[in-house]
Amino acid sequence: MAEVVIVPDAASAGALVADEIVSLITADPEVVLGLATGSTPLPVYQALRERLAGVDVSRVRGFALDEYVGIDPGHPESYRNVIRREVVEPLGLDPERIHVPNGALATIEHAGADYERAIAAAGGVELQILGIGTDGHIGFNEPGSSFASATRVKTLTEQTRHDNARFFDSIDQVPMHCITQGLGTILRARHLVLLAFGEGKAEAVAGAVEGPVTASLPGSAIQLHPRVSVVVDEAAASRLRFADYYRYTWENKPAWQGL
Ligand code: GLP
Repeated sequence: MAEVVIVPDAASAGALVADEIVSLITADPEVVLGLATGSTPLPVYQALRERLAGVDVSRVRGFALDEYVGIDPGHPESYRNVIRREVVEPLGLDPERIHVPNGALATIEHAGADYERAIAAAGGVELQILGIGTDGHIGFNEPGSSFASATRVKTLTEQTRHDNARFFDSIDQVPMHCITQGLGTILRARHLVLLAFGEGKAEAVAGAVEGPVTASLPGSAIQLHPRVSVVVDEAAASRLRFADYYRYTWENKPAWQGL
C-alpha cells in the first residue's frame, strides 16, 4: 500500500519532499531525479531553492516525464522550457544533465527508445516526482495506457487538452500529441512521490490509492510499486476511505524511516 501523508497545505508538502531530495543529493551528488511539470510540483521546487543554497548540485542528473510533440521549442509552455525556467535555472542545475523527452517531429519515431536508453544508461531514476491529472493520468499516460508501457507518443484526451489550455492562448493551440515516459518506465523508478492538491484531484487520488488497479485509471499503477509516498492536502485527501488510518500511521512512523 502506498504511504499517504496528509499535510495542511501545498507548502508543507513541498518542504517534506524537498527535505527528502536534499538528503538524496547529499548522499549522492550524482543522484538521478525524476522531474515533473504542471503546477503541482512547484512547491517542491520552491522549497528546494532555499534548501539547496550552498549545496553542490553541479552533478545532479534529472529526467522529465513528458513533452508535447511538435511544439515550437521556443514556446514558453514547452516542457523543456518549463523545466529550464522552474527547475534548472532557479536551482542552478547543469542543463546538460537534465533531460526532457524530445518532441521534435523530425526524430519522433525513435525519441521514445532514445529516452529509455538514456534513463537506463544513467542507472535509473532514484526518486520520481509525480502529479496526477483529473482523469487519473500520470506523466501523460492517459486512461487505457499499458502498465508495461515505455516512453512513447500518445494522443492527449480532450479532458487533458482542456485542463492544460490555461497555459496556452486557446485550446486549439494545445498540441494533440505528447511523448511521455510509460507507466512501465515510471514503475522502474526506485521511489515514487505523488503529490496532489485541491478538491479537483480528490477523485483521481482516491482511485489511484484505493481503487482497483486498472489501466482505466493510470495512477492506480502506483499500487504495484514497493515504495510510494502520496503527499496530499486535506482537500485532495477528502475522498480517501482510510484517511484516518493514514494520519495515524504517519503520526506513529518511526523517525528513522524518513519519507
Ligand atoms: C499534465 C502533466 C502531468 C501533470 C498533470 C497535472 O498533464 N503532463 O505530469 O501531473 O498535468 O497538472 P497540474 O499539476 O498542473 O494539475
